[in-house]
Amino acid sequence: MKIANSQLNSRRITRVLSVFAFAFLSTIFSSFAQDGEELFNTHCATCHKVLDNSTGPKLQGVRKKWLDGGSTEASLYQWVKNWQVAAANDPYAKQVSDWSPTAMSVFGFLSDEDITAIFDYADNYVAPVAAVAGGGDGAVSGPVQETSNTWVWILLAIVFAGVILAVGGVRRQLRFAVEESETGAGKDRSYGDEIREFIYKNKIAVGLGALALILTILVRGYFVLNDIGVYNNYQPSQPIEFPHSVHAGINGIDCKYCHNSVEKSKSAGLPTVNVCMNCHKGIPGNTDAQKNQIAKIYKAAGWDPEGAGKYTGKGEPIVWNKVHVLPDHVYFNHQQHVVVGGLDCKQCHGDMTKEGLARVVPVHELSAIEGNIPLTRATLTMGWCIECHGSKEIANGNLNTLGSGYYDEIHRRLTKHGKSLYQRMLVDEKVTVKELGGWECAKCHY
Ligand code: HEC
Ligand code: HEC
Ligand code: HEC
Ligand code: HEC
Ligand code: HEC
Ligand code: HEC
Repeated sequence: MKIANSQLNSRRITRVLSVFAFAFLSTIFSSFAQDGEELFNTHCATCHKVLDNSTGPKLQGVRKKWLDGGSTEASLYQWVKNWQVAAANDPYAKQVSDWSPTAMSVFGFLSDEDITAIFDYADNYVAPVAAVAGGGDGAVSGPVQETSNTWVWILLAIVFAGVILAVGGVRRQLRFAVEESETGAGKDRSYGDEIREFIYKNKIAVGLGALALILTILVRGYFVLNDIGVYNNYQPSQPIEFPHSVHAGINGIDCKYCHNSVEKSKSAGLPTVNVCMNCHKGIPGNTDAQKNQIAKIYKAAGWDPEGAGKYTGKGEPIVWNKVHVLPDHVYFNHQQHVVVGGLDCKQCHGDMTKEGLARVVPVHELSAIEGNIPLTRATLTMGWCIECHGSKEIANGNLNTLGSGYYDEIHRRLTKHGKSLYQRMLVDEKVTVKELGGWECAKCHY
């Protein structure tokens, strides 16, 4: 892996500033994006499309449909939270539940506001004119791509600001022209003067606005660091009930067999259906429950198990829902952590040999696992990342011990060009991730 010079000394002020600018803007704009689209993509998109029927019916106009059908909004919201309860109490919901043999998942954790946001998103959705093909992650049968509106908002804001300035400019010119022709002399007032005058005239409003802005930033900053753990135990439903315990546990299959890019790249990768078929061609399952699930693999692979079995050529990829989701502006690299940092998967994902489907394991469970560095900040939050970076020693605290070459090179450069820096690092007799730059905003933020 290449070592940037920044490893030793970097203060790339512009990049840091740009992160601040970004953080500032995203703080302002993310409040707009209380996000039906995001909720829809994470929870509903495996089974529903907005405009077409798929596993479940299309969702656009569904509120109206239920009301027209003689049901109520309350019953519809109950349906989303737990369709069985709705079907037991509302004949219309009962009728909907016969739509397909597939059952909908339950979403007891969604609030009414969340559900409203999803329906609003569905009702206001307009098909894109030219659909862009999804970001090709190669072998990864990727989850639905989340598009970030933040950039759209920022772009809109810039365009809007441009328009205002342009219009303001024209108006000013006109006014000067008028004043000039009336008085014979133009006052050359700059934007600065006008802004000062505006602020002076609207002291209270501007003051309150600034106060609100600062408070939002402080509150959001507080939540980023001390996150209450919104991701804890997050476990989306999956198209196949894949048990890690049976595969990585009982059958002892290595994580890398399925997550085969974890040591080589940024992302760990998810297995394609071919990987499942390597074994399941010959393992159709014993119990009915197993057979049902494994039949879904065959359907996805386009495999007809009758007789000797044959491929029909009519497969479709398995679309797994993403479990661990970092915002788009965060950079996380598996190779850096697993190979360079020498961390075990269980440090961040828990003991997967005992889990069923993957979930985001809360930090107190992670910290209880033997061999893990104990941490306190909620899993996947910024506080969690930097807490570990602040305490984790690298290469046993001595840059010169790991044979991988990565730290040896840093060691060589430090002893040659950065003796005093190195001595300062070693005051506490250890080198931490932080001391090599693991707390720099630009390391984690694009
Ligand atoms: C595991 C697949 C699955 C997921 C995930 C899922 N649904 Fe469904 N949904 C269905 C199916 C299937 C139906 C049709 C009813 C049936 O056959 O049981 C349905 C029906 C519905 C209906 C009634 C549609 C109509 O035309 O009357 C609504 C509303 C709905 N789902 C909303 C949601 C929302 C909101 C989410 C995400 C929070 C969601 N669903 C996630 C499978 C799913
Ligand atoms: C036989 C294949 C297989 C093996 C072996 C396997 N996994 Fe998985 N893993 C999957 C599949 C399929 C999924 C997607 C379903 C799910 O989320 O559980 C997954 C999901 C995950 C996820 C969540 C991905 C996300 O979306 O955030 C993690 C983390 C994970 N596995 C870790 C491990 C670890 C650690 C091991 C080794 C102890 C392991 N896996 C072994 C197939 C495998
Ligand atoms: C330092 C913490 C850490 C360690 C160690 C770690 N992971 Fe992850 N893993 C993450 C984070 C954070 C994500 C979410 C990444 C994202 O959304 O960009 C993730 C995501 C995943 C995913 C989802 C697919 C992907 O690449 O985004 C899989 C699968 C996975 N990890 C498997 C593993 C396996 C297998 C190991 C051990 C060989 C491992 N992880 C070690 C933190 C870790
Ligand atoms: C290295 C071989 C191997 C691979 C690869 C593999 N499996 Fe399995 N799988 C097994 C074995 C062995 C069993 C246990 C069957 C039994 O108990 O009869 C099993 C069982 C299962 C079951 C039933 C589990 C239960 O007890 O409910 C499901 C579902 C399943 N696998 C899904 C998958 C999926 C999806 C993939 C691909 C992501 C996959 N498997 C990849 C070997 C494998
Ligand atoms: C359990 C401890 C741990 C956690 C949790 C952790 N990291 Fe790390 N991180 C490390 C170690 C160890 C290294 C390797 C140190 C190095 O690169 O010299 C590292 C390195 C990095 C680097 C490269 C730093 C550099 O100097 O080049 C980045 C970027 C990074 N981590 C991002 C993240 C992000 C983002 C998260 C949270 C989603 C995270 N890490 C969570 C331990 C951790
Ligand atoms: C070790 C990695 C790491 C470092 C270093 C880091 N961050 Fe973060 N940051 C994250 C992660 C991960 C998240 C997403 C956490 C979440 O959503 O709870 C995040 C989220 C944020 C957010 C919240 C954006 C939002 O979506 O609400 C802001 C603002 C932010 N970081 C600013 C900074 C600034 C400023 C610095 C430098 C002082 C910095 N970060 C350094 C990992 C890091």
